[in-house]
Amino acid sequence: MANEWWRGCVIYQIYPRSFCDTNADGIGDLGGIISKLEHVASLGVDAIWISPFFMSPMKDFGYDVSDYYQVDPMFGSIEDFQELVKHAKNLGLKVLIDQVWGHTSDQHRWFKESRMSLDNSKADWYVWQDPKADGTPPNNWLSYFGGPAWTWDARREQYYLHHFLKEQPSLNIWCDEVREEIKKITSYWLDLGVDGFRLDASHAHLYDKQFRDNPPRKEGDPPPSDVPASNPMARQRRLHSMCVPENLDWIQEIREFVNKWPDRCLLGEAGGDDSEKIAASYVQTGKRFHLAYSFGLVGSEMSRNDITGAIASVEDVIDDGWICWSTNNHDFKRVVSRVNSHYGDPDNIARFAMALGLSLRGSFCMYQGEELGLKQAEVAFDDLVDPYDIMLYPEHVGRDGCRTPMPWLAHAPHAGFSTTTGKTWLPVYDEHVSHAVDRQEKNEKSVLNDYRRFIEWRKSCDALRIGDIELIDSPDTIAAYLRTYEDEAVLCIFNANENEESWEVPKEYEEFSFIEKISHNALVNNGKIKFEPYGYAFFTRK
Ligand code: BGC
Repeated sequence: MANEWWRGCVIYQIYPRSFCDTNADGIGDLGGIISKLEHVASLGVDAIWISPFFMSPMKDFGYDVSDYYQVDPMFGSIEDFQELVKHAKNLGLKVLIDQVWGHTSDQHRWFKESRMSLDNSKADWYVWQDPKADGTPPNNWLSYFGGPAWTWDARREQYYLHHFLKEQPSLNIWCDEVREEIKKITSYWLDLGVDGFRLDASHAHLYDKQFRDNPPRKEGDPPPSDVPASNPMARQRRLHSMCVPENLDWIQEIREFVNKWPDRCLLGEAGGDDSEKIAASYVQTGKRFHLAYSFGLVGSEMSRNDITGAIASVEDVIDDGWICWSTNNHDFKRVVSRVNSHYGDPDNIARFAMALGLSLRGSFCMYQGEELGLKQAEVAFDDLVDPYDIMLYPEHVGRDGCRTPMPWLAHAPHAGFSTTTGKTWLPVYDEHVSHAVDRQEKNEKSVLNDYRRFIEWRKSCDALRIGDIELIDSPDTIAAYLRTYEDEAVLCIFNANENEESWEVPKEYEEFSFIEKISHNALVNNGKIKFEPYGYAFFTRK
């Protein structure tokens, strides 16, 4: 395991637009990331993952790439990126970058050529289909961002597939030339020194070659965790549009290719109807991705059953593969606001999610601002910019409110995020200012300092970092599991509930000792734990 740095690592996700702006245009940039890397390193994390900074018309804020080799001038230059990698390495941080291979921007030169005719050199690079006899799309597949996954192109007189916006046409990864091109892009960035990739929507890379309709979701089928019920996609079982079994061969092919560079890591994003099981299957056998993340926790309200259900689904499939958990990212409402709690201090929800995420079996990916316990920003309808939020408004708001700028300094304009005299791309949320980095630095008991302590403890504890996990029977409101590695064992118990609870530690763990300095809002007396809402207790056997 010596070089398997990714096993048990903590990754910090940076959303560049909102991290730090150094050229006063109201949008974060690579220079801003460089300037704040010390903050990231001070958390004790092992790696960063940077969301896309490539050339893009920004219809989906960079997840619509128009040139995979160029840095968008909005973020800086390739020299800035090289400087960033150098600086990160000096601080002991690995660098993962986002790769969006499932689709390009419709402004990519490949798509511009592909749509010109049925026989150009890129004709097969995207997924084109004739209409049905009645002129309607070839099947019932839906897009994540609403409506059919097909858009008509008048010149080719065909429909093209897009799982997201119509400006994000799906690449045809069944086509050998596309696979070769993906490998070229991969080599370019690996040769530049990146330590790996976060692979966007990797469950949607391949599709059913027969273009069969997806069946409707049956009553009683569990709801998917990657889309809210207000999204019509939640009414289908996505058996054919994505998550097809052949995807595993492609994952294996790309892993084999990346293995040529030592110590690199592939982190796949895995959604679909049963995202835990999909993610777990994407990391099995040692020949697929190193890590994959699912939506079970990041899309949930973190009830006891959400937690234990997600663990059980993953463990059921994973063998010795390795998952990556997260409770926040740039696509979901921040956990502090997602957990339906009316109980006092929201910082306690942040701590609860931290202790849970960092003690599960797997690696952990945290998202900028999570270390500050930021809640979801409320963004007025007129200020929304994300097409997905706008489509599902007001039933589901998620992405803009978790992407507002980082608050660095409580007393500076735009909370130190930008020196622009105009507007920032999304407004800084007023209620984040009290949680700014400089404020929390000064407070020993802040969420920020709790994160540092917890990560440090995790690093020193093999049972937490790389150990096995076993769920323990517990009441409806309490999640409990045991982490073990060789002789070391850690018992982790969470009150996933906004009421006070008490629970007797099961007899077999009697000799374990309570770790007071890591536990929170929990008291132990004669083997009985008294929890405050969202309290948690850790016990250890040495
Ligand atoms: C990314 C999203 C993006 C989508 C399309 C994802 O899952 O995380 O932010 O909109 O893929 O690329």
